[in-house]
Amino acid sequence: MTTVAEVMPSLAYRPAEAHAFRAAEADFLYLVPSGAIFRMEGLGKEVVDLVRQRELMRHEIVGYLSNRGHDLAEIEATIDELDQAEVLISGRSKPPAPVVPLQSFPLQRVVLNVTNQCNLACTYCYEYSSDRIAQQDGKPKYMSADIAESAVETLIKESAGREGLHVTFFGGETLLNFPVMRSTVQYATRRVAELGKRIEFSLTTNATLLTEEIVDFLSEHRIGVTVSVDGDQELNDKMRVFHDGRGSYSVIAPKIKNLLKRHRTNSIGARVTLTSQVSDVRRIYRHLTTELGFDSVGFSPATASPDRLYHIGTQKMDNILDSFAELAWEYRDYALEGRQHGFTNVSDTLKELNSGVSKAYPCGAGVGLLGVGTAGDVSLCHRFVDAPVGKMGHVKNGGVDHEARGEFLATHHIGARYDCHSCWARPVCSGGCFHEAYIHYGETSAANLHYCDWIRGWNDLCLQILGEISVRNPSFLERFDN
Ligand SMILES: C[S@@+](CC[C@H](N)C(=O)[O-])C[C@H]1O[C@@H](n2cnc3c(N)ncnc32)[C@H](O)[C@@H]1O
Ligand code: SF4
Ligand code: SF4
Repeated sequence: MTTVAEVMPSLAYRPAEAHAFRAAEADFLYLVPSGAIFRMEGLGKEVVDLVRQRELMRHEIVGYLSNRGHDLAEIEATIDELDQAEVLISGRSKPPAPVVPLQSFPLQRVVLNVTNQCNLACTYCYEYSSDRIAQQDGKPKYMSADIAESAVETLIKESAGREGLHVTFFGGETLLNFPVMRSTVQYATRRVAELGKRIEFSLTTNATLLTEEIVDFLSEHRIGVTVSVDGDQELNDKMRVFHDGRGSYSVIAPKIKNLLKRHRTNSIGARVTLTSQVSDVRRIYRHLTTELGFDSVGFSPATASPDRLYHIGTQKMDNILDSFAELAWEYRDYALEGRQHGFTNVSDTLKELNSGVSKAYPCGAGVGLLGVGTAGDVSLCHRFVDAPVGKMGHVKNGGVDHEARGEFLATHHIGARYDCHSCWARPVCSGGCFHEAYIHYGETSAANLHYCDWIRGWNDLCLQILGEISVRNPSFLERFDN
């Protein structure tokens, strides 16, 4: 067989763009932009270590390693394998595929903001705080059943080829419009059955309005629930308050316990919004799991302009990363014993890294997901409902505005976020949340550079955890396959 060395004896090799990390006493490379993870061992590691020092010609690599006593054929085969796996770059390597922005994409999910009203007045809420971007003058307070049904029809029409659809109910406080949520679930279930498709539902709620009747409905229709709660009474009540300033914890705690007891047909997770005043991640996690009984808890920092009191500055974000790390190592310990841990920030990141994701867009907004406001206006996502930017049509008047959506997709893919082009974390981050960018920089297309160190630190940590699990208990990772 003719080797590459015979055909191109003077091929030069250099390492591919990668982030190196160690786990379980082994060396790994996270390859960018493919998102593949490569464990370096044996002869392959020797080759990579050589070319990481300086670019080398093929015959130099072969000569050096054969002097070290390695078999010639084995060296040649290893170089070819590394070349094919794109761990090494040579004159033979394919140039990186250009990022081609999507023009359109079949829709998978609509988020229906069934009301823009709320019975709470959480200090940080982007719907009502000084960072609010929604303009609701002239919009109805509650979505009608007619608009919600048109939104379902829009989802069906725009989801060509997809078997599984999803409707998320959102607000304002979602359960203030429970009648429309209930009728929409019934309508959508019937419509997709006629079409031989599947549909799932979920809602996000502040839990204050949960009743036995609502819980039974959620359970009967297998509706996934995300409950917003920021920890124990003292922490939750710092920000999650009624309009008269009373904390919401004492109202929601018994309702959450009842929900967790009675609704067992789908996942129920807690969603914590972190601020400069509420950032004790371990204390919050322990309370929500052991006292309230949640199986899963996810944390997200509040999106806020830097001058808001509750905005989390760099120092606090570093502290939060340290607490995230402690909980993440606990997740690793559980995983090595084959047990599930409820810190969903880790499982979400591991899932992405394990699947070798390489994102052109940071999330589903505008891609597989669109938001719908109470009047039927379509937007980039639920955070942009009724905002002056991210408008993408109307569920009754013309449906999705494909031109506006195409324009958005063309200008917001990772190729257009120039600041991110040399960042190793771009396959998973892709520049970050459009809403966060809009609040911070006034531009949805800006890269969220204020979070870069955090994003890279977090992904490096999760890569180490993934590497260790892949060596010590690889069967644990099977749960991320679907
Ligand atoms: C806007 S609320 C709507 C649904 C419902 N009222 C609730 O509280 O769950 C949805 C989620 O957004 C979160 N949220 C509100 N303002 C936020 C902000 N500025 N940054 C990040 N998350 C925020 C809330 O804590 C809640 O978990
Ligand atoms: S309950 Fe939800 S919508 Fe209402 S103020 Fe709080 S975060 Fe905002
Ligand atoms: S926003 Fe920062 S961390 Fe994210 S891809 Fe861009 S440069 Fe990297």
